Amino acid sequence: MKILVFGSINIDLTFFVDHLVTPGETIASTGLLKSAGGKGANQAAALAKAGLPVYMAGKIGADGEFLLTLLNSYGVNTDQVIRYEGATGQAIIQIDKNRQNGIFLFGGGNRAVTAEEIHAVIEVFDRGDLIVLQNEISHLGEIMKAAGRRGLRICFNPSPYTQAVEELPLDLVDLFFVNEIEGAAMASAPAEALPAVLDKLTGRFPRAEIILTAGKEGAYYGSGKIREQAAVLDVPVVDTVGAGDTFTGYFIAARCKNLSVGDAMRAASKAASLAVSRKGAMEAIPLAGEVF
Ligand code: RIB
Repeated sequence: MKILVFGSINIDLTFFVDHLVTPGETIASTGLLKSAGGKGANQAAALAKAGLPVYMAGKIGADGEFLLTLLNSYGVNTDQVIRYEGATGQAIIQIDKNRQNGIFLFGGGNRAVTAEEIHAVIEVFDRGDLIVLQNEISHLGEIMKAAGRRGLRICFNPSPYTQAVEELPLDLVDLFFVNEIEGAAMASAPAEALPAVLDKLTGRFPRAEIILTAGKEGAYYGSGKIREQAAVLDVPVVDTVGAGDTFTGYFIAARCKNLSVGDAMRAASKAASLAVSRKGAMEAIPLAGEVF
């Protein structure tokens, strides 16, 4: 079985600030970090660091070559990453003194993936292979349909959530990863009532497994009537960017290593807890030896 992450590859520029900038305000930062990110690339890195062979597909410009070098150093196969004339995607991230963050994105190559390119990538994979998707690239519905026709199993993290997610062929998804905000929006339920959100999502997607992550509240799993829960570790929080991606990659990796759902939840929670105790997104993801 092959694992393909088809998603965003970003240059992350993180500004450390006293508070998140308000409209009309200009503030000085206390530090700047240029690092590797993008939800797709982070999830591919997490899978590879967890010890799985993984393929990455996406699109970058010449300014993003260092991201592929880093992904390759973790063992990610980047043969399916397309180069183009334009710029690589970017995320401008602010982290305030309370470790809250605010992010805005420039899509770049992530939003320039074409339908033809999608079909060429999907043809390389076969029935039973796994595709991992997030909501940061173009033609997502096309990718889901092509993957479904090809018999791939689909994992979907609808992040960052927008109303457009509801237009996607979500009935094709086998495994959802949502945070409490995304889950509540998709369940049309209040975000505080996590078990109720999970019940609504398992009712809405009876064929799918659902993972609901809720920061300090831990993570919840639902599939039909089955429920599991995992707590986060008590660690000093430095930077939460990429924590969800770490969880996603490690959960999938743990299941591929035949761990039970409960053990996979605990491993993924531990990996995400370790990631938030370090700066950066991709570079902060722990190695398998630290987690399993
Ligand atoms: O999930 C974290 C990621 O979101 C960052 O690395 C940033 O690139 C944005 O895509």
